[in-house]
Amino acid sequence: MIVILLGPPGAGKGTQAAAISKSLNVPHVSTGDIFRANLEYQTALGLEAKKYMDQGQLVPDDLVVRLVADRLAKPDALEGALLDGFPRTIVQAQALSDILAAKGKKVDVCLLLEVPDEDLIARLSGRRVCRGCGAGYHALFSPPKVENVCDKCGGEVYQREDDSAQTIKSRLAVYHKQTKPLVEWYQSRGLLKVINGRSDPKTVEAEIAKALA
Ligand code: AP5
Ligand code: MG
Ligand code: ZN
Repeated sequence: MIVILLGPPGAGKGTQAAAISKSLNVPHVSTGDIFRANLEYQTALGLEAKKYMDQGQLVPDDLVVRLVADRLAKPDALEGALLDGFPRTIVQAQALSDILAAKGKKVDVCLLLEVPDEDLIARLSGRRVCRGCGAGYHALFSPPKVENVCDKCGGEVYQREDDSAQTIKSRLAVYHKQTKPLVEWYQSRGLLKVINGRSDPKTVEAEIAKALA
């Protein structure tokens, strides 16, 4: 099963991904996470992506598409994948459909997490992430028990570089201009399911489970 998690920065894509990927038994493929992991190891891909990520701009389509094509060719993605943060442009959506068609597959559903911009700014400016296991926290709404230490693995909890006020602004603008057209793209193909991403995480999780049932 190929499931797309679509939504603006901070909508809760990463937060919801673990439960969905577990219930569907498909890998969680987040292009943002792949870029950040590459940057951690200072690979050429990571350093190239950083130039765009730091500005809140999209990494060029051809680079992202090649990366996802490679990822979907790995054995664990044979039965499908949960795509988080991809596609993000019409060009990427078309490329995805071509990659899947070549394997006799298609997108099964696109889940849109809807959250208004005001909420997104508050969420992103307080977001903290564990460097070890990727667990997500929020400085005000859900801080770790010990400051900067992950409850789950004891790893270091840090703030993403692109979660600065200025970069959040450009990421939201980029979403509205370049990614939002995908809502219409998947809706017109009968694949879109809209989820209210404003509720608390457990409620959102239940709504997603219902949409996938
Ligand atoms: P990426 O890593 O994908 O970032 P993003 O899309 O901006 O989304 P986020 O990860 O910021 O948000 P999220 O929806 O996962 O929210 P989260 O669950 O963490 O991409 C980063 C960059 O990489 C891009 O800007 C671009 O440069 C590049 N890139 C990646 N993919 C690309 C592509 N396909 N093409 C081109 N470039 C690409 O939650 C956020 C916060 O809210 C957390 O603190 C969390 O605790 C809290 N929260 C979550 N759910 C709730 C809730 N229900 N109620 C209250 N708080 C909540
Ligand atoms: Mg994310
Ligand atoms: Zn951790």
